[in-house]
Amino acid sequence: MTEQDFILLPYPNTLESGKITWESPSNIALVKYWGKKKDQIPENPSISFTLSNCKTITTLTFSKKKDTSNFEFDVYLDGEKKDDFKPKIQTFFERIEVYLPFLRNYKFKIETKNTFPHSSGIASSASGMSALALCLMSVEKQLIEKVVPSSAPDCYRDETSSSNEYFNQKASFLARLGSGSACRSIEGDLIVWGKTNSIEGSSNLFGVKYPYKIHDVFKAYQDTILLVDKGKKQVSSTVGHNLMHNHTYAKNRFQQAHDNLEKLKTILESGDLDGFIALIESEALTLHAMMMASMPYFILMKPNTLEIINKIWKFRQETGLHISFTLDAGANVHVLYPKNETSEILEFIKNELVAQCQNGHYICDQIGFGARLIKN
Ligand code: PMV
Repeated sequence: MTEQDFILLPYPNTLESGKITWESPSNIALVKYWGKKKDQIPENPSISFTLSNCKTITTLTFSKKKDTSNFEFDVYLDGEKKDDFKPKIQTFFERIEVYLPFLRNYKFKIETKNTFPHSSGIASSASGMSALALCLMSVEKQLIEKVVPSSAPDCYRDETSSSNEYFNQKASFLARLGSGSACRSIEGDLIVWGKTNSIEGSSNLFGVKYPYKIHDVFKAYQDTILLVDKGKKQVSSTVGHNLMHNHTYAKNRFQQAHDNLEKLKTILESGDLDGFIALIESEALTLHAMMMASMPYFILMKPNTLEIINKIWKFRQETGLHISFTLDAGANVHVLYPKNETSEILEFIKNELVAQCQNGHYICDQIGFGARLIKN
């Protein structure tokens, strides 16, 4: 697939108005994406667990307009108009217009809500951008699908260009242009983004489902998110990614991500939990090490982040349970563990780790299977 494959013209149908709702989850990277080239092309491949409970629900209402000189849209979060969200969406529309040429022909109302608190320090860009990309894809689907009576047999429907695979790939491709990691939120349960030789079908343009065997122990993995710092992001992703340009360790870091993806293949197939823990914790700490070693440098972990990590290590050593952690570009800790160890680990989290969370807040989540169309 190339960028050109995502341009479908002319549209055979006309559409006056409509309303679509999608819900789309967040995701947590195991091998981290950190560093990008032009047009949100990643410097290295990444892989993530799609989450289940942390998600964004977006309703897109659209009606045809005559004046096509500008994009016209309003954004609402929890029913409240949010003009400060508009510049990001304006940039998103500018980037994707070539792939969705109908954007200037409609006035859009974008109503969005998250299942997690907006000020939780959990990035809503992955779930938010993927939900919006999916809503826009549903509009395109209506513009290209053959109009056939609903009573007609399935063979009358043209599935070639609007098949699920194409739909998901293009939704992921568009979401990537909104926020890189958003392209890993369309499907589940493990998604790879970024071209790498060890994963067949992997692409820099969109996320693909991890295509190899996964041991049962990884199928219902748990993620309890400890909200250490619920403040606004200290460093925007764009600024962070750009600090990998000319970074002293960039070349080795990018190579390490390829190597870790290859190693993860054996781990995922065999169910090697110790190997898994070592790899993902090293990835999380490497991400933060890159931030500390860039110029300008920054530390996004807080004292409580380190306190939690040390407690996790001690508890693991004492009990032999398979508790581990990963981090995003922030202070919050994702505690990862297999489902069959939930009762002991959750008890430990409640008794020992919740005290380090801001206002005692944490979110219980688990691996999920991707976005869902709620209403068309
Ligand atoms: O999608 P962005 O541009 O917000 O970047 C996300 C980067 C990390 O969350 C730190 C890692 C990742 O792969 O998700």
